[in-house]
Amino acid sequence: MRIDIITVEPDLLRSPFENSMMKRAIEKGLAEVHFHNLREYGHGNYRQIDDYQFGGGAGMVLMIEPIARCIEKLQAERTYDEIIYTTPDAQTLNQATTNHLSLKENIIILTGHYKGVDQRVRDKYITKEISIGDYVLTGGELAAAVICDAVIRLIPGVLGDETSALTDSFQDNLLSPPVYTRPSDYEGMKVPEILLSGNFPKIEEWRTEKAYERTKQIRPDLLDE
Ligand code: ADE
Repeated sequence: MRIDIITVEPDLLRSPFENSMMKRAIEKGLAEVHFHNLREYGHGNYRQIDDYQFGGGAGMVLMIEPIARCIEKLQAERTYDEIIYTTPDAQTLNQATTNHLSLKENIIILTGHYKGVDQRVRDKYITKEISIGDYVLTGGELAAAVICDAVIRLIPGVLGDETSALTDSFQDNLLSPPVYTRPSDYEGMKVPEILLSGNFPKIEEWRTEKAYERTKQIRPDLLDE
């Protein structure tokens, strides 16, 4: 999978891709990530990329021309399956969307900034708009990193243990059950007996029951879906 990220803050984005699982995926050749500094597509001495909004109001808006130049340059090189825009005024990211995106070959992610982008960018180029939650970040860069992390870990071969992504929270609309490791008794706090029993069908039953309990208590809305 190739991901091209168009951003005004490329340096803010680098670290998540240089560490841990995303680094491993890139090193294994399973994911390729390229950053494009929008500023380089701005015109004039100041490489202008934003301007005041028509109709008045606080906050700058990213202009269509620099974004169009960058997207169209990329599109001339290859076909993109999705062009994503990160913004709080969109549907919230969920596991179904990350599963869907993990099957794609080429993706562009345009990260919002300031007051956002000119609506015409969204109308002309964007195929999917994603929010990572009902709160406002300074820019969409961290949202792009979150989306990439959630998607890249699902690409076959990225995770060492192939089954571990399948048993993540949300894969079946349930939160994960509690997990324990040694010691089996910490200052009188004991690990549930069943997990030490070696009876794997019973352990699976217990985990499913706990997953339902936890979901019902913390995220009952998931059970309605
Ligand atoms: N940009 C600013 N806030 C955001 C959010 N919650 N999700 C995605 N992009 C954003």
